Amino acid sequence: MSRTLTVGLLGAGLIAGVHARAYRVDPGVRLVAVADPAAGKADRLAREHGAEVVDGVTGLLDAGVDVVDVCTPPTAHAEATITALDAGRHVICEKPLTRTMEEGRRVVRAAERAPGLLMVGHAARFEPDHRTARDVAVSGRIGEVRMVTHSTASALPGWSEAGWLADPTVSGGPLLDQAVHAFDYARWLVGSPAVRVTCMAADSGAGPRTYTLTTVRYRNGALAHVECSWAHPAGRGFKLGCEVVGTAGRVAWSYDHLMGGVLHPRDGDAEWFDVLADRGFTSELAAFFAAVRQGGPSPVPAAEALEALHTALGALESARTGRSVDLTSWERT
Ligand SMILES: NC(=O)c1ccc[n+]([C@@H]2O[C@H](COP(=O)([O-])OP(=O)(O)OC[C@H]3O[C@@H](n4cnc5c(N)ncnc54)[C@H](O)[C@@H]3O)[C@@H](O)[C@H]2O)c1
Repeated sequence: MSRTLTVGLLGAGLIAGVHARAYRVDPGVRLVAVADPAAGKADRLAREHGAEVVDGVTGLLDAGVDVVDVCTPPTAHAEATITALDAGRHVICEKPLTRTMEEGRRVVRAAERAPGLLMVGHAARFEPDHRTARDVAVSGRIGEVRMVTHSTASALPGWSEAGWLADPTVSGGPLLDQAVHAFDYARWLVGSPAVRVTCMAADSGAGPRTYTLTTVRYRNGALAHVECSWAHPAGRGFKLGCEVVGTAGRVAWSYDHLMGGVLHPRDGDAEWFDVLADRGFTSELAAFFAAVRQGGPSPVPAAEALEALHTALGALESARTGRSVDLTSWERT
């Protein structure tokens, strides 16, 4: 039996609570410390999980945790992640990797020199339906992937501390906070780097550029079309769906009307799969702890998350300028 891995949470907001519940599935993982400057939040989460409250990333390191789990807004990801990696700890960093490419590159370099593992929280890769569709695509059952259409639409998320999600300078709006999942997922499915991105966006009561339509071209010629909005009526709930079209079939899943996932091979009957199976956060964190115990590799390396960040920032640039962005030459510090 391997020794218990101790975890410290930086941030005690929405996703920190989800992570804390997911650790409990593994009897070999224990949340021991929580840090959050917002009054009472660390206290509540720590009490619920039998952990202590500490001050900042230094407090987590002083508590001797094996793993630092960075669940803050993205503007705080880089410094905390680099500090923890340089201190020899393993790190989970929520998506998006960072707020800027300059920060993201620094995190990638820190991960390369660190003895510990860094996983970035692109949880969509661990959702069973997303994963099934990707496995189908990679297996060749639908031939060569040529087009991915992905949609995420909701109202402006209302839970964030001091409203940081509604502040584009912190969150980057839906393109960086939400569509970054789709950019990571499509890149993972297509298996080729993004080379060009074009985005049109419209303002809404939820803020600037909150209806967004982005098209991405990949080096192997495949395309992705990503719809992402924070301007949908609140009562409509969360719309999430994806279709992957290959030269020999298509595979799709959707949460919109809970239709489930479906695979249409070129020959033979459609096959359905369940989109309401166990959700991804538990699998995501289990994959991370398994990787730590085995000595790697990271289930979602920083260098891959940096690509999704680059695409999202390129989409923001395209929406701002009205021009498409060549990602092979576009540099955003
Ligand atoms: N993977 C997913 O599907 C998913 C879902 C939701 C959020 N997230 C990501 O998780 C991160 C947190 O989002 P959230 O929804 O939990 O936000 P939140 O506002 O609910 O929680 C963030 C918490 O971080 C705290 N915080 C801010 N700066 C801090 C610092 N320097 N040190 C310690 N704590 C600090 C805030 O006080 C707040 O309590 C973001 O990067 C977000 O994009 C990922």
